[in-house]
Amino acid sequence: MFYSACRTVRLKPGITPTSCSCHTGRHVVLRLDEQGEAPSDQVNKRHKKEKVPCQPVLDHFDQQYGQELPDLWASTRSVLLNPHSWQYGVMLNRFTSATDVIQILQSKGFSRFLPQTDASALLCDAHSLASKSKCPAVNGLVLSPRSISKCLPDNFHPPSLGTSHAVSQDLESDTLPSLPCHSLQCYIHPYTMRFPTPAHRPGQLKQYYLLNAASLLPVLALQVRDGEKVLDLCSAPGGKALAIMQCATPALLCCNEPDPHRQEWLTKTLESFLPHSLNSRVIVSAQDGRCFGMSEAAKYDKVLVDAPCSNDRSWLHSGSSQRGDHRLKERVRLPVLQAQLLRSALSAVRPGGVVVYSTCTLSSSENYAVVETVLNDFPEAEPDDLWEEIAIPLSKYFAFGPAHPSRGQASHKPSLQSQNRTVSSYHHRLGILVVPQPGKTWGPMFLSRIRRRPQ
Ligand SMILES: C[S@@+](CC[C@H](N)C(=O)[O-])C[C@H]1O[C@@H](n2cnc3c(N)ncnc32)[C@H](O)[C@@H]1O
Repeated sequence: MFYSACRTVRLKPGITPTSCSCHTGRHVVLRLDEQGEAPSDQVNKRHKKEKVPCQPVLDHFDQQYGQELPDLWASTRSVLLNPHSWQYGVMLNRFTSATDVIQILQSKGFSRFLPQTDASALLCDAHSLASKSKCPAVNGLVLSPRSISKCLPDNFHPPSLGTSHAVSQDLESDTLPSLPCHSLQCYIHPYTMRFPTPAHRPGQLKQYYLLNAASLLPVLALQVRDGEKVLDLCSAPGGKALAIMQCATPALLCCNEPDPHRQEWLTKTLESFLPHSLNSRVIVSAQDGRCFGMSEAAKYDKVLVDAPCSNDRSWLHSGSSQRGDHRLKERVRLPVLQAQLLRSALSAVRPGGVVVYSTCTLSSSENYAVVETVLNDFPEAEPDDLWEEIAIPLSKYFAFGPAHPSRGQASHKPSLQSQNRTVSSYHHRLGILVVPQPGKTWGPMFLSRIRRRPQ
């Protein structure tokens, strides 16, 4: 059992955990024929079960996202409304041998996303070059493209970095060395090829986990290293916790989830993927995430806040109009809860530590506005620019939205300008947004990384 230090804190009446059925962990079971198409009998079964889009939610999104993402919403809408176009990534479990799975994946045309041979190999080269050259000592695994280019030979010419804030162009992303070396292995397919859910094998760990590949970006941004203390504040069903454990072996990973049913789901996930030898390092707790910052102040090196949000994909298929209406009413309260969770996370992280805030909605008020509000109250917190570090290197796989929607720009003042930042870099620093587009259907996923300044 991955249980210890489990404290249940009752949520205040009226503020129940949002039943956010995050798109991580949603397993779609389809057998694949040789062409990668679902057999027609299965396609027919799927059609029978298919839900019609929820009209009140669709109308609401049309109005909001039509304004916030004017150039993108029409194509995003078509992706979100068509579950057959959704893609799933296959994250391998490093605690099992997955040679057989890799062979099947490769034979079906899947390839490794974040292959070791491009960015990370170049990064490792840069490390060895740095150690032999005049370059200052390299701390940690991540170097910015700029610092690497200083260490590379004079005749090395990196591709120029695009500065456009619009949807990604196919930049020469494979050669941009800004992502860390890591053991995370995720396979993706260029088309909407789906892989079956991993079978339960008695006494054996599961070999892979299916997820929206954009869910890995907040974990990459967290940059967890061996021996660190990590808090996953809103953890169920556990997809990102598993991804963290693929990247490194923390001294402690506390997976927090206050909703009892979802906590059960989380515990089962951890038990199915992680070996018993990690039981003392991976614990499940049941606190209201808003209280963590007080009860465990400055205890963690890294905190992930994968916040409850209006999950655009699942909300569009809410079923009845009544349910859709109810969710839209709940929606207005989410930014307050999200800001409370983010504040709590910033209190739980040690000075010098890092918090990543993420959601799976396109909504500006749950994304940029939450980050901005919290930054205004936390002078000791500083946002990082993830555009260069994550959006540009991965633009081959993901489409990214504009740095900050125009509506948000008008309504939220860049208070950090006083700290010598331009408006443009300020808006990049608030976070990056993965916007589903035809051919790059991953997302929605917003992520922002905030550093607590060392004292
Ligand atoms: C987006 S989901 C998390 C998905 C998870 N990180 C993953 O990758 O599988 C958000 C979770 O936050 C939980 N939650 C809701 N209110 C919370 C609160 N006050 N404190 C902590 N977690 C909360 C929800 O029950 C839900 O399981």
